[in-house]
Amino acid sequence: MADRPHSAMWVLLMVLVLVSQAICYGGATRLDRWESAIRMPTDDDMDDDELGTRWAILVAGSSGFGNYRHQADVCHAYQLLRKGGLKEENIVVFMYDDIAMHDMNPRPGIVINHPEGDDVYAGVPKDYTGEQVNTHNLFAVLLGDKKAVKGGSGKVVDSKPSDRIFIYYSDHGGPGVLGMPNLPYLYATDFIDVLKKKQKTGSYKEMVIYVEACESGSIFEGIMPKDLNIYVQTASNAQENSYGTYCPGAEPSPPPEYVTCLGDLYSVAWLEDSESHNLKKETIEQQYKTVRERTANSNSYILGSHVMEYGNKSIRSEKLYLYQGFDPSTMNLPPYSNQMDMPMGIVNQRDADILYLWQMYKRTEGSEKKKEMLKQIKDKVEHRTHLDVSVKLIGTLLYGPGKGTPILNSVRAPGLPLVDDWACLKSAVRLFESHCGSLTQYGMKHMRAFANICNSGVSQGSLEEACLAACSGYDHGQWHPSNTGYSA
Ligand SMILES: *[C@@H]1O[C@H](CO)[C@@H](O)[C@H](O)[C@H]1NC(C)=O
Repeated sequence: MADRPHSAMWVLLMVLVLVSQAICYGGATRLDRWESAIRMPTDDDMDDDELGTRWAILVAGSSGFGNYRHQADVCHAYQLLRKGGLKEENIVVFMYDDIAMHDMNPRPGIVINHPEGDDVYAGVPKDYTGEQVNTHNLFAVLLGDKKAVKGGSGKVVDSKPSDRIFIYYSDHGGPGVLGMPNLPYLYATDFIDVLKKKQKTGSYKEMVIYVEACESGSIFEGIMPKDLNIYVQTASNAQENSYGTYCPGAEPSPPPEYVTCLGDLYSVAWLEDSESHNLKKETIEQQYKTVRERTANSNSYILGSHVMEYGNKSIRSEKLYLYQGFDPSTMNLPPYSNQMDMPMGIVNQRDADILYLWQMYKRTEGSEKKKEMLKQIKDKVEHRTHLDVSVKLIGTLLYGPGKGTPILNSVRAPGLPLVDDWACLKSAVRLFESHCGSLTQYGMKHMRAFANICNSGVSQGSLEEACLAACSGYDHGQWHPSNTGYSA
């Protein structure tokens, strides 16, 4: 209760900032109408023939109300692209779609991505929802392979050599993997292989990929080629978390009736930047600089992350509208701004679901229901602890006391991939899960340990022995991979 007056003040402050912006831009818009009438075409206004078609793939890789923010980010991106003139037929959306009508949603049928934000859900096409949100379909869609797609709208990126493609992904991740609401997870090496395959078909001009996830840099570090005409931006480097924002109890906080975070730090940084600038003038590089600063959260990297770039960096001198479109109402907005917003309260992505359960617990009425909630929280925390302890013990068994943890945690030099043998990484994960239970969203953080086990040349036989020793007798319960499948 103590933080209530404080948060009310913050909301008031936010409102004042928004209102003052609206006032400035309001004046500018009127002037702009006058100005645009006499504006001559400039060389940054390519005509449509020259431009080709703009395609986009938007992916929310999670499910559950505790992960509200990933689907909110993706819906928001959809609205931005549509305002920018991209056509619905050229935007493919992957989202589990369990948020808008969820019992816990205080505004049924509405999804917001900012404490004072408007609905971003209305009109978002349900191309791939529920169990159709999976790695297989994502790859088929990107490759334009209509026949390979299973279920869903069947919409694919049927792109031509002159077209541009924008991919935006938001979810949990871990070293070398991005989450998906249906297993298996998306492995870095498989994703890069699909990008190479797409490039071989010659069916695009250039591609820009934005990725929000913990350790998202590790998806591209050391394995993303520079010659695919693809530019990549990630929310974090190969070894750090990315962050949820607009979270209950943090500032700025969502409206009090929300028990879950509304957005992610990197995602809202680029979305809000794109919304408030003229994308025919702003370059990808200018956006990168603003977003990097905001995601670093006042340069305190403990409360933020390092936005990274991979692939062909010369693409970043291009204007954003080539990928995200151009909304005529932004004509007179500035090309970019480097002013730092106020620091953003954040929550580690991996803790956001515990925060959510805790908020639910506090609001639950009736002692039976409260007991049930508490059990859920305890089960989750216990499985997390079990995962941490087992991985540590496996390290000790393989390398000896005192040596295990440094080897499992060691980070390779920048430019080197997470692991040399990705097939080894996948089988190590499967071995672990069959003896020690599902890795879960949280356990993705241990991917580096399995990668290092592979890098150190441990045989599958030795690893299996260590997994058996560490986890024999553990009651998997709901965490057995036979329930949800293997993550690899
Ligand atoms: C990077 O992109 C630029 C601009 O499209 C292109 O001219 C250059 O050849 C590309 N570099 C590589 C290594 O492919």
